[in-house]
Amino acid sequence: MPDIRGSIHGQWSSRFVFILAAVGSAVGLGNIWKFPYITGENGGGAFVVVYLICIALIGVPIMMAEILIGRRGRQSPINTMHALVADEKAHPAWRWLGWLGVLTGFLILSYYSVIAGWALAYVFRAGAGLFAGANAESVSTLFGALLDSPESMLAWHTIFMVMTMAVVARGVRSGLERAVTILMPALFALLVVLVLYALYAGDFARGAAFLFNPDFDKVFQHCELLESGVESCRFSGEPLLIALGHAFFTLSLGMGAIMVYGSYMPGNASIARATLTIVAADTAAALLAGLAIFPIVFANGLEPAAGPGLIFQTLPIAFGAMPGGQVFGTLFFVLLVFAAWTSAISLIEPAVAWLVENRGMARVPAALAVGAPAWVLGVGSVLSFNLWSGESFQFFGKTWFDLVDYLTANILLPLGGLLIALFAGWVMSRAASRGELRMGDGVGYRTWRFLVRYVSPWLVVIVFLNAIGLL
Ligand code: PFF
Repeated sequence: MPDIRGSIHGQWSSRFVFILAAVGSAVGLGNIWKFPYITGENGGGAFVVVYLICIALIGVPIMMAEILIGRRGRQSPINTMHALVADEKAHPAWRWLGWLGVLTGFLILSYYSVIAGWALAYVFRAGAGLFAGANAESVSTLFGALLDSPESMLAWHTIFMVMTMAVVARGVRSGLERAVTILMPALFALLVVLVLYALYAGDFARGAAFLFNPDFDKVFQHCELLESGVESCRFSGEPLLIALGHAFFTLSLGMGAIMVYGSYMPGNASIARATLTIVAADTAAALLAGLAIFPIVFANGLEPAAGPGLIFQTLPIAFGAMPGGQVFGTLFFVLLVFAAWTSAISLIEPAVAWLVENRGMARVPAALAVGAPAWVLGVGSVLSFNLWSGESFQFFGKTWFDLVDYLTANILLPLGGLLIALFAGWVMSRAASRGELRMGDGVGYRTWRFLVRYVSPWLVVIVFLNAIGLL
């Protein structure tokens, strides 16, 4: 079927480049920084099982839905939704889906840039040889010094945001294509080296058991010791919501990032095959990161539930002890910055593409118009780790950083994903989705349609209801 529309922003030069760009968006801090620390906080194996189920039953069908919507609309998510609403004669309220995505991406970028700033700071710490002979105490002091200095966190946050705006301003194709082609494979190679190191020097058996042995009681039973001395246990669905939210976050789903990249995808590429490749790469990156980190955590008596600082307090110990650690450590943090960079770009591309389409803006002012306010909001996250960490600055027991992270990853992304699934499964005609997926009417198409209509949306709703205590 010929393309109905063409994108004014250009097209990826091949289907392989689309896959690389989408992997660039998906693989980022979510895999290497967030996955290990939330797995650590949520008790390990059983959490990982739930996360993998979410990836397979929700992530895969919704990614296909998002790419197909993007490629059919060939515009920024906001205008794509306008166009498809007209094509399908759908209710005009569906247009808000594009706006929801823009808001979510903007909020995520505000704190994503702060954490990427930590990775930037660590490039120089590793390069200066500060990890040599490091132990649990020294790395924690080093990390604490970064958190205690709002000035330096702000400086790194600023540098990262400028880097992101610079690439988006140049257009996503130039620059990004080349960066992803070389750097993504390098990141994977280095993760494998780290896993091998963990196998040799860490407590690999315990690390792997923590990651893969599911103990459902440990994850879902929350027990308290009552005053009477009796222990009271109840089921808590919170880890389910966190695993679900992370499935969306790590695959960049639910906010239009993959949709906008899909709008630049060549018309003849297979969406199903691209999706499976992207999901496999993303999952592999997260599991490799887990296998590199937990053996080191256990071998050094560190706390798996250490929170957002986990990788910054474990990996330096490994780099400090391994031969060539100074070079490896520097390279690792450089690659982590690149992984974060290629993800951050996709966070603002939907908004920037819209400003170019509808406001006739050039890309440079458009990138600034989105990046600058995100930077300002990010200051709240910088301060969450120092001046605003106290209770008087907390809302619902969470710092600003925790709140924005919770709201975006656990509520806005799943909500966006739910609406995307409903739109692709129920609102778009069979002919439209089948034509765009180009997979005929066989088992593949029918399985996808069944999942996106009946399975993914219901799972999201059940997890939501459970988390707010209604189920
Ligand atoms: N997937 C990215 C990561 O795992 O770090 C984060 C992200 C990028 C989330 C783009 C959402 C998005 F639209």
